[in-house]
Amino acid sequence: MKQRKGIILAGGSATRLYPLTLAISKQIMPVYDKPMIYYPLSVLMEAEIREVLIISTPRDIVTFENLLGDGSQWGMHFEYKIQEKPNGLAEAFLIGEEFIGNSNVTMILGDNMFYGEHLVEILKRANKREDEATIFGYLVKDPTAYGVVEIDQDGHAVSIEEKPEIPKSNYAVPGLYFYTNEVVKIAKAIQPSARGELEITSVNEEYMKRGKLKVEKLGRGITWFDTGTHDALLETASFVQTIEKRQGMQVCCPEEIAYNNGWINKQELLALSEKYIKTEYGMYLKELAENKY
Ligand code: DAU
Repeated sequence: MKQRKGIILAGGSATRLYPLTLAISKQIMPVYDKPMIYYPLSVLMEAEIREVLIISTPRDIVTFENLLGDGSQWGMHFEYKIQEKPNGLAEAFLIGEEFIGNSNVTMILGDNMFYGEHLVEILKRANKREDEATIFGYLVKDPTAYGVVEIDQDGHAVSIEEKPEIPKSNYAVPGLYFYTNEVVKIAKAIQPSARGELEITSVNEEYMKRGKLKVEKLGRGITWFDTGTHDALLETASFVQTIEKRQGMQVCCPEEIAYNNGWINKQELLALSEKYIKTEYGMYLKELAENKY
C-alpha cells in the first residue's frame, strides 16, 4: 500500500473571529507561541504522514506558503491548493483529487487541535487501518454544534448526524478523518446540504452504509479544541502555555516531531533552532538536539 497522504483544510471566512480575521486567516492566528496551523500539522506528523496538501482561500494561500514552504525543512513535502469558496469540508477531496492519487488520505481541519496521552498510538493505529475509514468520538456535554455519532459495541458507527437538535449520543465528531482512497468517488457523489455545503457528515454516512466507519473514542486523557471563537482561541492558548511552562515540553512542535520521526537529523535540528534562538522555542530545539529532553 502507498503511504497515506494528508490534507489540512484551512479556508473559510472565520466571521466568528471578526475583526481579528478581517485581513488574515484564522489558521495563522497565534495560539500562544505558534501559528494555529502548526497544531493540526503536528497531528498529521504524529500519524507519520509526510506528504501534506494545504487548502486555503485565494487571499490566504500565499501566507501559508510563506510560512511552511515546501516542507523539506522538516523532511516533508507540502503542496498548496485554493478553495475558491467555502463550499463545504468534503470539497477538499475534489480539490485534492490529483494530490491524493491512489493513496489513502487523512484530513484535519486547520482550526482543530488535539493533545494528550496515547494520542500517538491511536493515530498510528488509524493510519494502518487500510480498508475502512476511521473517525473519532469525543464526549462533550453539548454536542449540538458538531457532527454527532452513535457507536456500537465493536466501535462502528450506527448513526451520524450533523448538528442535530436532539442528539442520539454525546459523542461529537472532531475534525480529523482517516479515509480510504474511495473518498474521492464518495465526495463526488454526495449532494449539497440544505445550507448549500458538501458536508463531511454525508461522506461519513456513506462509509457507515458500507459498514466501513470505525469510530475511535478519544478518552478523558485527550484534549480536543476547535479554536473558532475568541474565547476558544484564548482558552487553547492558555492550555498550551500551562503545559509548556509546567512541563518544559513543547505542545505540537513540528521540528521536534520531525526529529523524533527520523525525518531530520541532529545537525538539521540545530540549524533550525538557530533561526529562533532568541526565543524559548529556539532554546528548546537546541537543547533537544543536545539531548536534554
Ligand atoms: O470541528 C469539528 C466539526 O467541524 C465537526 O463536528 C462537524 O461535523 C463539521 O461539519 C465541522 O463543523 P463546523 O460547523 O465547525 O464547520 P465550519 O463550517 O466551522 O468549518 C470548519 C473549518 O473548516 C473552519 O476552520 C473553516 C474551514 N472551512 C469550512 C468550510 C465550510 C473551509 O476551509 N472550507 C469550507 O468550505
